[in-house]
Amino acid sequence: MKEIKDKAREMMKGFCRVCKVCDGKACAGEVPGMGGLGTASSFKNNLSALAEVKLNMRLLHGATEPDCSTKVLGYDLAMPIMAAPIGGVSFNMGGKITEDEYADAVVGGSKAAGVIGCVGDGVPPFIHEAGYAAIDKNDGYGIPFIKPWEGEELEEKFEKAKATGCTTFGVDVDAAGLITLRQMGRPVSPKKPEEIKALIDTVHGWGAKFILKGIMTPDETELAVEVGADAIVVSNHGGRVLDHAPGSAAVLPGIAKAVSGKLDVIVDGGIRDGVDVLKMLALGADAVMIGRPVSIAAVGGLQEGVETYFATLKGQLLQAMVLTGSQTVEDITSRVLFSE
Ligand SMILES: Cc1cc2nc3c(=O)[nH]c(=O)nc-3n(C[C@H](O)[C@H](O)[C@H](O)COP(=O)(O)O)c2cc1C
Repeated sequence: MKEIKDKAREMMKGFCRVCKVCDGKACAGEVPGMGGLGTASSFKNNLSALAEVKLNMRLLHGATEPDCSTKVLGYDLAMPIMAAPIGGVSFNMGGKITEDEYADAVVGGSKAAGVIGCVGDGVPPFIHEAGYAAIDKNDGYGIPFIKPWEGEELEEKFEKAKATGCTTFGVDVDAAGLITLRQMGRPVSPKKPEEIKALIDTVHGWGAKFILKGIMTPDETELAVEVGADAIVVSNHGGRVLDHAPGSAAVLPGIAKAVSGKLDVIVDGGIRDGVDVLKMLALGADAVMIGRPVSIAAVGGLQEGVETYFATLKGQLLQAMVLTGSQTVEDITSRVLFSE
């Protein structure tokens, strides 16, 4: 990983410092770029909310060789992890690799590691085109996330994404706050529940599943259940859309309670290692998404970089499972959380 990170630091110069801990401090306000919006407090809150979670260490048990495989949205995953949708290599990461190379590394690297890669959306169109091409090359094994565009563009994007053969579609509703798109004169907007429901009905009509990304409150979780989403992503978009939002780990338990098993809960924001993955599962997630560290691995080492990062995460997750007495992913419950 050190070699990959060193290479990424060189390649992402001026866009990402590839800090020892990716916590949003050095890059505060750098959007476009890899930072968080404004003071970057939402990005930093993702890290601090996770840091506040403490674990119960248990060693008097037989969980010596745990199994971290799981099933989410019908996908058999080697571990409960996905690569978060991220796009815009040229204006966010320095453009030393192409959008196509990036998307291939994320989608191909995720598949090789037994997890699933998501792809992002934005302006110019080569962002989603690179993502869709990568999913197509991987026989539909990838998840496209489409922004909440206004008008016909939304339907057109769904049709284009469908042609990749993918079986799950996502919308990052929180992208309604993206200044990069506003600067480009291509605003996106919040969507009424009935508008989301119409989209979900279309996707279900295709026999596919739907993920709503950017849910941060229990009331919107209930709306997501009502409109028929198959999963939500508890996310503040890596702190890139609204300053002074709480960390996702802080809102996750309340959201998981509101869901009460009616849909899959995925979470992202500040997850950096296998222990963070375990914490999010214990707080109520079914799976996690990881953003910036996967980008760094992809820029620094293409597909091999992504595979290496996921292999490292898997080792850390398995070790954390042993040390908390969790034989399977289902065993990672609030039992592993320390409270005074
Ligand atoms: C440079 C950059 C571009 C992003 N582009 C997208 C996107 O196109 N679609 C999307 O749903 N989320 C996008 N995100 C948000 C990520 O999917 C994810 O929510 C976030 O990065 C998670 O936080 P983490 O980076 O701390 O892991 C982007 C994030 C970054 C840093």
